[in-house]
Amino acid sequence: MWLLLPIIAYSAIFLYVRHIYSYWRRKRFPSEHTSLSWQFLTLAYQREFRHVEAICEAYQEGRDRLFGIYCFFRPVLLVRQPQLAFSILQQSNGHFTESKWDCVKGYRRFNLLEKLSPMFSTRRLSSMFSNAQHVADHMMQYLAKREEQGQLELDLQHLMRIYAVNIIGNLVYGLDVNNFVQRDHLLNSYVQHPSQYGALQSFTLRGMPQKSSLAYRLIDIIKHNVEQREENGIIRKDMLQLLVKFRNGNDLSSDKWQIEHAIEEDKLMCIKRLAKVAEDLMHSALDGIASTITLTLYEIAQQPLIVEKLQTEIQELNLKDGQLAFEQLMGLKYMDMCVKETLRKYPPVPIIERVCRKRYTLPGSKLSIGVGKTLMVPLLAIQRDGRYFSEPLKYKPLRFLHNQPDGGGQQCPSVIASFGIGGAQCVAQNFAKMVIKLALVRLLQSYDLELDASAMVEVSHLPAPFISSPDGLKIQLKAREILRQSNYRKCSI
Ligand code: HEM
Repeated sequence: MWLLLPIIAYSAIFLYVRHIYSYWRRKRFPSEHTSLSWQFLTLAYQREFRHVEAICEAYQEGRDRLFGIYCFFRPVLLVRQPQLAFSILQQSNGHFTESKWDCVKGYRRFNLLEKLSPMFSTRRLSSMFSNAQHVADHMMQYLAKREEQGQLELDLQHLMRIYAVNIIGNLVYGLDVNNFVQRDHLLNSYVQHPSQYGALQSFTLRGMPQKSSLAYRLIDIIKHNVEQREENGIIRKDMLQLLVKFRNGNDLSSDKWQIEHAIEEDKLMCIKRLAKVAEDLMHSALDGIASTITLTLYEIAQQPLIVEKLQTEIQELNLKDGQLAFEQLMGLKYMDMCVKETLRKYPPVPIIERVCRKRYTLPGSKLSIGVGKTLMVPLLAIQRDGRYFSEPLKYKPLRFLHNQPDGGGQQCPSVIASFGIGGAQCVAQNFAKMVIKLALVRLLQSYDLELDASAMVEVSHLPAPFISSPDGLKIQLKAREILRQSNYRKCSI
């Protein structure tokens, strides 16, 4: 009897695990070969914790447009073909819900992200540009100070993280914060890269809410700033102003920045919800901004010709006293190609993930996926696939010369999707490009880059790409002679 119990327990576990790992086969999807061997279980476990690299490997293993794999005990459907990913995500509404941005006011239910999208219109961005310039000025003043002290070898990854935090602090939280000098500011905690404090990489646990005392202190900041604007009529051209306008039911698509005050009962968002939106914007923005600037600098530092071309493009703007206009920034064509190439090679969101909420039949097939199952589009793997991009690991901005990526074989205009696919594309992509290009212009205008060729630089994913080497991205900046002759430094404050 005592011997029988463990045998029954073991058999039940064995059958249950085998049942899970036969999910895709039972549903007739092309899938990986599964077994209850140690090797397979380790692989499935690894995907849970080192998921980006492990999922890219699975993409390479598959042959069909769909490929069923397992992340620990979770059946995941990899969509390997870009066109199919586009058609699924374009028509995914209702099947793969995104409840995070759902908002209810009285009897009305609306998608907050859709309502907030005019915040990122070109007109609004152009008005916010001076605030972004102000943040870039802080960075340049910090570098000028280091130059005076003869300390121009620095970790550019860390520098760019401070810049990204300052941008969010300034434009989303409405604070005139400068973490280059204010080391004790609350937002400084976000400067540290998540990898440095051993953030959890688990897929499943990543989605769990993590309330910290920091989040509560951020609510206080928002509360104070919202009151200032609503009660004292303060106008500051930033995202917080637009969030407060939205809270008061004002039209965001007009040009006005002034808040038309609504009575408390008519407000569309409480302070707590507004603070949550600000926090979500920060989480969506930080890694993307910081990693794209850092990795662009990392790539171009290895190709001095690209740096030279970018510097020439900037020089041809003939900036008066070094002052850059929004339209000039957005018109930099070669710079745009470089940013696109960085986003292709290092997409900050390397995997687009959806959980099925309503049974979904895949286009052009009789196969369907059930409620609770995960679907993934491995952007990183697709954007490094030699079928769509020749020499995918080479950094070649000119592949975007004609606004379409070059193809190694089959051309596919839709393969570059770093800002997302379908209805859930990044609302803030123009804002992201603006602040990324701004930092690049300001740095390249003043400095040449020298990468230590002997330094071991390793790029990992968490899931956004970051340089995991102990020294980050150590680069020696060399002040450019051309700027010494101008009075740029004096005028850009
Ligand atoms: C290079 C920079 C960025 C890249 C490559 C990027 C990429 C993306 C992608 C791929 C998505 C869609 C994710 C999905 O479908 O699941 C997304 C969503 C989003 N992005 Fe961005 N993003 C960037 C910067 C920003 C910035 C600066 C902000 C805000 C200021 C922002 C705000 C958002 C928001 C609010 C969403 C919706 C998120 C959600 O539904 O959870 N992003 N972004």
